[in-house]
Amino acid sequence: MRILTALQPSGILHIGNLFGAIEPMVKLQIFGNENLLFIVDYHAITVPQDPAELRRNILFAAATYLAIGIDPKKTILFQQSRISEHTELAWILNCLVHMGELERMTQYKDKARGKGEAVSVGLFDYPILMAADILLYDTNVVPVGEDQKQHVELARDLAQRFNKTFGETFVIPRPEIRKEGARIMGLDDPDKKMSKSASSEKNYLSLMDDETTVLKKIKSAVTDSGSTITFDKTRAGLANLLTIYSLVTGKTTDQLVNEYEGKGYGDFKIGLAGTVSSYLAPIQEKINNSLEDESKLLSILDQGAARAKAIAEKKMADVRKKIGVTLS
Ligand code: ADP
Ligand code: TRP
Repeated sequence: MRILTALQPSGILHIGNLFGAIEPMVKLQIFGNENLLFIVDYHAITVPQDPAELRRNILFAAATYLAIGIDPKKTILFQQSRISEHTELAWILNCLVHMGELERMTQYKDKARGKGEAVSVGLFDYPILMAADILLYDTNVVPVGEDQKQHVELARDLAQRFNKTFGETFVIPRPEIRKEGARIMGLDDPDKKMSKSASSEKNYLSLMDDETTVLKKIKSAVTDSGSTITFDKTRAGLANLLTIYSLVTGKTTDQLVNEYEGKGYGDFKIGLAGTVSSYLAPIQEKINNSLEDESKLLSILDQGAARAKAIAEKKMADVRKKIGVTLS
């Protein structure tokens, strides 16, 4: 079974990314699975990036995955831009996709809103590069958060269309949407998902937040006017905090509700902040250590790229032949 996912090198990773995207990949590193995890730097440049910062963020992303438990022996860890077949296949898929299909993508509509004409063609085309990412490796399963489901479905449609037009070439991938942690909500607005692009830093818990910041952010997290700790989806803010609590402790929300019986929001938030900080401390230490040894990090990414390239080259040779551009 080939399992593949990717994340943008966005600098700040928050606990939504951690529980929604990275941690599930760590758990999937079991015998029988072939895993690929990569840093989609060419997706990142669909919006303006400072070059020096982008480089830093790519390394930071790699260091983070290793700190969370990605084992480069079990998972092919690499940087998207190193494998030119991604953009090559994207071009070919561009010629199969219809404008209307991309215009329907909700992430594009969200990201383009209010920007008028000043939106890059890359942002519009983003789902096609993502489809190429997935199809290039004969991926069976794509673990993603809910917000990416529509993109994976487009990749499925394009794989089917290509196969029908040119003959069996691509494996049809399926999205796997995580239930637990699939959608961590914003601390300051529990009706919207936690996101690094939120307008306030109080929206998210970054993996690099120190103890004081964690406490400050959790204390200011939006709850409701109630006073007891219960798990109730209609109490969105509290339910979100309980979900985070459960993810960092491994306890069920029921267990936590029992623990906090008779206690109020104050105790609950202090308890949660303490646990989040202890959870993050060893991760932060590993990230920092890894960043200090840049040559080791680069060597891991080199090895990952070599392994990915071998798979991608073979697939592209087949694709070129199928569409008729290979002459001999
Ligand atoms: P952001 O919204 O912060 O920019 P990205 O779009 O870069 O996050 O998402 C990176 C990965 O993390 C994706 O797989 C996405 O589904 C997952 N993810 C993002 N936000 C959340 C969240 N709030 N809860 C769970 N998973 C999330
Ligand atoms: N679009 C994804 C996101 O923003 C990142 C991504 C790019 C991806 N290529 C992918 C995810 C391939 C899974 C598979 O989160």
